[in-house]
Amino acid sequence: MTVLCDLRSDTVTRPCAGMRAAMAAAEVGDDVYGEDPTVAHLEARLSEMLGKEAGLFLPSGSMSNLCALMALGGRGDAVITGKPYHVNAWEAGSASVLGGMMIVPLAPGPDAALEPEDVAAAIFEDDPHFARTRILSIENTVSGQAVSLARMDAAIAPARAAGLSVHLDGARLFNASVALGVEARELAARADTVSVCLSKGLGAPVGTVLVGPREVIHHARRARKLLGGAMRQAGVLAAAALWALDHVLPRLSDDHARATALAEGLSGLDIGAVRARTNMVHLRPHAQLGDLRGALAAKGILVGTPDPESRMVLHRDVDDQSLAAALTVFRNVSTGKPPVAMP
Ligand SMILES: Cc1ncc(COP(=O)(O)O)c(C=O)c1O
Repeated sequence: MTVLCDLRSDTVTRPCAGMRAAMAAAEVGDDVYGEDPTVAHLEARLSEMLGKEAGLFLPSGSMSNLCALMALGGRGDAVITGKPYHVNAWEAGSASVLGGMMIVPLAPGPDAALEPEDVAAAIFEDDPHFARTRILSIENTVSGQAVSLARMDAAIAPARAAGLSVHLDGARLFNASVALGVEARELAARADTVSVCLSKGLGAPVGTVLVGPREVIHHARRARKLLGGAMRQAGVLAAAALWALDHVLPRLSDDHARATALAEGLSGLDIGAVRARTNMVHLRPHAQLGDLRGALAAKGILVGTPDPESRMVLHRDVDDQSLAAALTVFRNVSTGKPPVAMP
C-alpha cells in the first residue's frame, strides 16, 4: 500500500535534498569536548532567538524536559504540571524514575492552561511531611492548542510568588508563536528554561534545544551526560536544524492554513466533530463509521490512534496535493462510495 498522506504526527517528516546537503556540508567536531562548531552555532542561535543566556542540544524533547527538571530541582522535589502535558503523561515517568521528583498533575482548563488557583493550591507548605515544591512545568502548544500570554502569566504568577522555577515545554513553541502572533522570545521570557524541538513542525530528523540561564544549562549539560545523551559529531544533526530555522520556520503558517482547510473539508462531510488548532486537527468520528482509521489506512491515509479523538498533524511533507488526496479518501470512506482515482 502506497502512503498518500501521513498525518499521524509532524515527527514523520524526512529530510529533503536541501536539508541533506546542509548536513553533508556541516563542519563537525567532538561535541562532548565542546568542539563541534555547528552544534555551538545552533545553541547560540536559539538562545539568542529566545532571549536566553545559553543553549544545549539534546537528542530528544523528552530528554530535554528531564534535563531541565534535573537542573532546576532534584530528588525529593515536587513538580507541578498538567495531567495531559507531555512531562507527566508521555515520558515514561522519567521525572520520578530518573529524577527522583514527585509530579503533582493538575487538570488544565478548556484552553489547556493551568488554572492559577489550582497552581496555588498545589504548592505544598514548608512542612517535613511534604515534598518541596520547586518547579512549575508548563507547555505550549498543548495538543495543538496555543495558550495565550495572559493565561500563561496567570498560571505562572502563584508559582513565582512562591519562589518556584518555571520550565516551558515548547516542543512546538514556534507554532504557538505563529498562532498567537507573538514573538517566540515573548513566550520564552515567561519561563526560566524552554525546550524547543527541531524534529516536529520544523522537520529536522533529530534534536531539541534547551535554553535558559548559563548556570542552569551548565547543570543540564551534566544531566544530559548522566542520561547518556551527550553526542559526538552531532553537527550533522545541528546543521539540519539550522537549515530548518532558515527554510521551514518561515513557512510554519502554511501548516496551520492546511489544518484549517482539512478541518473545513471534514466538516463538510459530516463524519464527526472536528477541530483545528495550529497544525493539528482532531476528529471524533460518528460511531457508525466503525474502524475509520483502518479504512483510511487501507487507502493510504494515516491518522493518529483514536483516543477517543483521532489526531491529524500537518507538516512540511504534506502539500496541497496530498491534502486533496486525503480529503478525497475521507469522502469515499465516509460515504461508502468506491474509491476514485487519486490526482
Ligand atoms: C509537547 C511535547 N513535549 C515533548 C515531546 C517529546 O519529544 P521527543 O519525542 O523528541 O522525546 C513531545 C513529543 O511529541 C511533545 O509533543
